[in-house]
Amino acid sequence: MPRSRSYAHDYQMACRDPEAFWAEQAARLAWHTAPTVVLRQGEDGQHQWFADGSLNTCWLALDAHVQAGRGEQTAIIYDSPVTQSKQQISYAELTERVSRCAGMLRSLGVGQGDRVIVYMPMIPEAVVAMLACARLGAVHCVVFGGFAAHELAVRIDDARADVLLTASCGVEVDRVIAYKPLVDAAMAEATHKIRHCVVFQRPQCLAPMVTATDLDWLDTVARAEPAAAVPVKATDPLYILYTSGTTGKPKGVVRDNGGHAVAMIYSMQAVYDAGIGDVFWAASDVGWVVGHSYIVYGPLLAGCTTVLYEGKPVRTPDAGSFWRVCAEYGVKTLFSAPTAFRAIRKEDPEAQLAKAYDLSRLERLYLAGERLDPPTWAWLQQHFGLPVIDHWWQTETGWAIASNPAGYELQSSKPGSATWPMPGYQLAILDDEGQPVSAGIQGNISLKLPLPPGCLTGIWGAPERFYEGYLANFPGFYQSGDAGLIDEEGYVFVMGRTDDIINVAGHRLSTGEMEEVLGSHSAVAECAVIGMLDDIKGKIPLGLVVLKNGVQIAEPVLSAELVGLIRRDIGALACFRGALIVKRLPKTRSGKILRRIMRQMVNGEAWSVPSTIDDTDGLDELASQLSALAPC
Ligand code: COA
Ligand code: AMP
Repeated sequence: MPRSRSYAHDYQMACRDPEAFWAEQAARLAWHTAPTVVLRQGEDGQHQWFADGSLNTCWLALDAHVQAGRGEQTAIIYDSPVTQSKQQISYAELTERVSRCAGMLRSLGVGQGDRVIVYMPMIPEAVVAMLACARLGAVHCVVFGGFAAHELAVRIDDARADVLLTASCGVEVDRVIAYKPLVDAAMAEATHKIRHCVVFQRPQCLAPMVTATDLDWLDTVARAEPAAAVPVKATDPLYILYTSGTTGKPKGVVRDNGGHAVAMIYSMQAVYDAGIGDVFWAASDVGWVVGHSYIVYGPLLAGCTTVLYEGKPVRTPDAGSFWRVCAEYGVKTLFSAPTAFRAIRKEDPEAQLAKAYDLSRLERLYLAGERLDPPTWAWLQQHFGLPVIDHWWQTETGWAIASNPAGYELQSSKPGSATWPMPGYQLAILDDEGQPVSAGIQGNISLKLPLPPGCLTGIWGAPERFYEGYLANFPGFYQSGDAGLIDEEGYVFVMGRTDDIINVAGHRLSTGEMEEVLGSHSAVAECAVIGMLDDIKGKIPLGLVVLKNGVQIAEPVLSAELVGLIRRDIGALACFRGALIVKRLPKTRSGKILRRIMRQMVNGEAWSVPSTIDDTDGLDELASQLSALAPC
C-alpha cells in the first residue's frame, strides 16, 4: 500500500500478480459481499474485476462515513461566484438529500439498470442526482451542460433513458442560459421518449413547465420516501459517460461499480495522497470524467471534502478566484486543466492576485486533460513553489494512467512528461505494425491487457466499437489513441492524439462530428476540420470547405453560418473559429483527406509532400492561404 510500500514494489507487484495486488486494494472496501473471484474473462472475452462481489457505491461514498461517525464533516463545499452563493453540506445532510432524491426516482419508476440522463449545471443537485442513481443501482448518464440540444438528443436515444433530471438554467459568467428550451428541443428530436423530465428551478430563471412529462424537482422530492442503498453486482454499470470518438456518434463509456470503487479509493491515496478530512478540489465540471472521478466519487469515497465550484478561472470575477477558493476553504489539492492556468497567467502574468491569499494549506497542483505545455508548468513552479503534477488519463480509463506517484513518494519531474505509469498499467510504445519501439522513440501508447480496475468495461450498446476502436489493432493491448514515448528513465511523454480528436480548452471534441455538421450546409461539397494552435485553449477548430459547383457565397457569410450550425448542433463549447473556402482538399491516392499536412500548414510547421499523394496541384496555394493564419 502507498506510504508503507514503495512505488517500485507496487508497480512490480501489479505487473507480476495483478490479482494479488488488486485483491489487496479491494480488501479496503466495505463490500456488501466480498468478492472471491478477483479477475476473470466474461463470455464476451472481456476482463471483469471482482465479478462475484456486491456493493453499493453511493452507500460507500455516504452512509459508510456517517456510520463511522463522520456525519458532521463537510462533504461538499459549493462555491458559486456566478450566483453569489455558497453552501456547505455535511455527509449526514448529503445522505439525507440523496436518499430522498433516490426515493423520487423510484417513485418515477426508476430501478436497477435503468438509465437516467443528468443535464445539470454545477450545483449540489447534480451530485445528488448522480449519487441517487447509484443508490438505486440505476445508471446515470451525465451530459455536460454546454452541449446543444442535438447532442443531448443523441445521448437520450443511445442510452434509452426514461427519466431526465435538469435545472432551469446554468450561469455562464454573467449570462443566464435557460436549459429547459434546450431540453424540450432535445426531447422533441429524440426518437426515444423521456417519460419524466424533473426540473430543479433556480431563481435566476424559472422554467415553464409545459407538458405532463415535466415535474418540479422540489415538489416531487417532497412527496418521496427516502430510499435505502441497493446492493448491486460489482460488474453492474454505475454510469455511462459519452465521449468523442472518431465518428460523428459519441461513444458511451461504461464504468462498473466494483472496479471503479476500488480504483477511486486506490487513486485518491496513490496519485493524490488525499484522505479523510482533506479538502480536495477538482476545478472541472461534473459533465466530464474529471468531474465524475474527482469531484464526486473519488473524494467522497475517500472521506474528503470536495469543492463544487460554479465559475471560471477568470472573469468570475478575476484571475484570483482559484486562489481565493483555495485560501477560503483550506484546499490541499487543486486539480484543473492547463488551459485554466493559461487563462489565469494571461490575466495575471506575475501572479499578483494570488499574493493576496493565504495558500499555506495548498500542497500540490495537478493538471490533466491535455498536454501540460512547459511554459505553463514553469510559470506554476516559479510562482507557487509547489509540486506541479502533470498526469495523463482518459474518459476511458477513469483515473491516471501515468502520474507522479505522490502517495508513494514524489519523483523529480520532467517538463512535458506525466512521469511514470501508475501501478496496474503496463505501457508499451508500439509502431504502426504493433512492434515495440526503443526508449525515446515515439509511437502508439498502448496498455497491456488486462486494464486495471476502474477502466471502461465496454461501449454502451456497441461491443464492436469497443473491440474495433481499442483492441483490434494491437492484439493483447488497449490502444490509447495517444502518441508518445517513454525515455530511458521510464518517464512517459504524451505528445498528442493519433486520431482526429482535438482538445479544445481541455474538452475532447471530434473533428469528424464537426465535419458532419459542416457537410449538412447546402453550399458545402466537402470539408475538413483541423485543430489550430491557440494560446489559451490549446487548439481551436477551423473548417476548410470546398464549395459545390456553381455555388456563389462570400466566405465571411458562409463562415458565420457554419459557426452558427456548430453552436446549434454541438454547442458553443466547441469554440469553432470559422471556415475558409479552399479550392480542393489534399488527398491520398485512396481518397483519404490529409488533415495532418493542413494542420502543419495552419500551425506554421514544416510540411512536406507525402508519398501517398499523386496530385500536388494547388498545394502551394493552399499552404499560403493557411499559413496566413499561422501564429507568429
Ligand atoms: N453551459 C453553457 N455554455 C457553456 C458551458 C456550459 N456549461 N461551458 C462553456 N459554455 C460556452 C461558453 O459560454 C462560451 O460561449 P460563447 O462562445 O458564447 O462565449 C463557449 O462555450 C466556450 O466556453 P469556454 O471554453 O469555457 O471558454 P471561455 O472563454 O468562457 O473560458 C477557459 C476559457 C479556459 C477559462 C475555460 O475553457 C476553462 O475553464 N476551461 C477548463 C476546462 C476544464 O475544466 N476541463 C476539464 C478537464 S480537467
Ligand atoms: P478525455 O477523455 O476528455 O479526458 O481526454 C483524454 C485525452 O486528453 C487523452 O487521450 C489525451 O489526448 C489528452 N490528455 C489528457 N491528459 C493529458 C496529459 N496529462 N498530457 C497529454 N495529453 C493528455
